[in-house]
Amino acid sequence: MNPPSILLDTLFPPGIDLEHVSRYTPDDDKPVISPVSDDHVRPWVTLTFAQSLDARIAGEAGKQLILSGKESMVMTHWMRSMHDAILVGIGTALNDNPQLNTRHLPPLPEDAAYKYNLPRPVILDTHLRLRSDCKLLNNYKAGVGRRPLVVTSAYARTSDEADAWTERKANLETAGARVIEIEAVDGGISISSLLTALRTLGIRSLMVEGGASVIKSFLASTQSHQRTVDAIIVTVAPVFVGKEGVGYGENLLGSQIPAMKHVKTELFGADAVIALTTNSS
Ligand SMILES: NC(=O)c1ccc[n+]([C@@H]2O[C@H](COP(=O)([O-])OP(=O)(O)OC[C@H]3O[C@@H](n4cnc5c(N)ncnc54)[C@H](OP(=O)(O)O)[C@@H]3O)[C@@H](O)[C@H]2O)c1
Repeated sequence: MNPPSILLDTLFPPGIDLEHVSRYTPDDDKPVISPVSDDHVRPWVTLTFAQSLDARIAGEAGKQLILSGKESMVMTHWMRSMHDAILVGIGTALNDNPQLNTRHLPPLPEDAAYKYNLPRPVILDTHLRLRSDCKLLNNYKAGVGRRPLVVTSAYARTSDEADAWTERKANLETAGARVIEIEAVDGGISISSLLTALRTLGIRSLMVEGGASVIKSFLASTQSHQRTVDAIIVTVAPVFVGKEGVGYGENLLGSQIPAMKHVKTELFGADAVIALTTNSS
């Protein structure tokens, strides 16, 4: 079964060799085909999330909502298999304890020489609050997930806080995480420095899955001369959540939102999936 055409049309140039999309072949020299950015100092970035008709991505007090139906969930897992890495903020990692893998794809034939590509999890986590028994680290230890990359940043701290941070870092590393430090700007990890660092680590494409603060940061990080997001793929579920739910766009200024071009809208079950690319001019 081929990946959904909305993803192929949005993420890749026409005529891509499907033999190498989403598939990881351990003995093959050829790496999985990945979307690539025109801007060679950073990965291609796909910002993606599921929202209700009233633009909520979670319920009251952040309660996790399964907004995507079965069909759009499968589409999201195809999208995961097309990227080198997948990013969430620590709010999502703590609240939802996600796996960020590709478990909803059609089963492969037993004699298949390849597997579905698994993206490397990346977590924005200044204070190293990620639990060392979270599913991401358990999956890595069980050999069913890539090694998570935890991104932290230096912040003002007392010597006791610094000791506690060092201890949490050691615990996460013992549990299998790789921890890297990136500069902070305006109280959050710098998105442009992060993207440069990820590209240096060999990550060609990054899928950003949320949550609310991270979506807002990535949307707002696009400046007029410097794009940081290449594609936006939003699943819209036919439900209303209400104002108690968690939104993502309330405080964004129009001037912060990148110019976008509509690529395609497709129905997956009852959900509409809308794909846009940002303009390079
Ligand atoms: N519907 C969907 O598709 C979807 C997908 C994912 C999540 N969600 C929902 O989103 C909610 C979580 O959203 P959230 O806003 O609380 O958490 P989040 O966006 O997942 O994480 C935010 C945290 O990341 C850290 N961070 C570091 N640098 C940052 C930067 N530059 N920009 C933004 N964050 C940065 C900050 O914590 P530190 O200061 O500690 O570093 C910040 O508080 C959950 O309810 C979850 O269910 C929905």
